[in-house]
Amino acid sequence: MAPSICASLLLSLMLAILLICPASARLTLKADEGVLHDICSPHRDPPFCLKALKSDPRTITIDLVGLTNISIHLADVAANKTFAFIGSLVNKTSDPKLKPQYEFCHQFYESLVGDIESAKDAWKGGDYFTVVVAADSCLTSTGDCRDVITTNASPLLRENKEVSYYCEIFLLVSKRLSGLS
Ligand SMILES: *[C@@H]1O[C@H](CO)[C@@H](O)[C@H](O)[C@H]1NC(C)=O
Ligand SMILES: *[C@@H]1O[C@H](CO)[C@@H](O)[C@H](O)[C@H]1NC(C)=O
Ligand SMILES: *[C@@H]1O[C@H](CO)[C@@H](O)[C@H](O)[C@H]1NC(C)=O
Repeated sequence: MAPSICASLLLSLMLAILLICPASARLTLKADEGVLHDICSPHRDPPFCLKALKSDPRTITIDLVGLTNISIHLADVAANKTFAFIGSLVNKTSDPKLKPQYEFCHQFYESLVGDIESAKDAWKGGDYFTVVVAADSCLTSTGDCRDVITTNASPLLRENKEVSYYCEIFLLVSKRLSGLS
């Protein structure tokens, strides 16, 4: 089977599970310490994940719906900051090899920022499946940006990695909310 068919089958399956199990789609566990550890354990940097979620004082008192909003907000702040940073890199870089790489990253971030905006709307509408899809694109765009940067010394690599960590938190929290993990 072609990979894209597998991917769409997988998405359909996840959607079917959501439709069949409305209860699990509306989990409202309190985001207590145990839940936070569970959510963060598959993260590439679990302490980073825990620290980020706990940086918001609302985290310990809200449910998974609210925690997803927080994870969207964390990704939003980091993504906007890095998007602006890439804009300034594009403007001040004259290196003919680096400039196009930054321009590619700028495009990837334009779509990443758009994904986060669509996640906000979907979250408001209670469409948590679309939120998961947006979180997945968020993570993918940071990977795309990393892949086009060939200079290990670029300051963008560190910033982009941080955004990818926030996108991963956003994905883990929203999957948990949707009952997908
Ligand atoms: C979602 O998070 C944003 C950013 O922190 C906040 O301004 C907003 O009030 C939150 N929405 C709800 C309904 O809690
Ligand atoms: C991030 O940028 C988007 C698009 O420009 C904007 O709508 C959103 O309010 C910004 N978010 C934050 C937290 O500044
Ligand atoms: C980069 O330059 C363009 C065109 O001059 C300008 O519109 C944009 O605001 C600049 N971006 C940054 C981040 O300085």
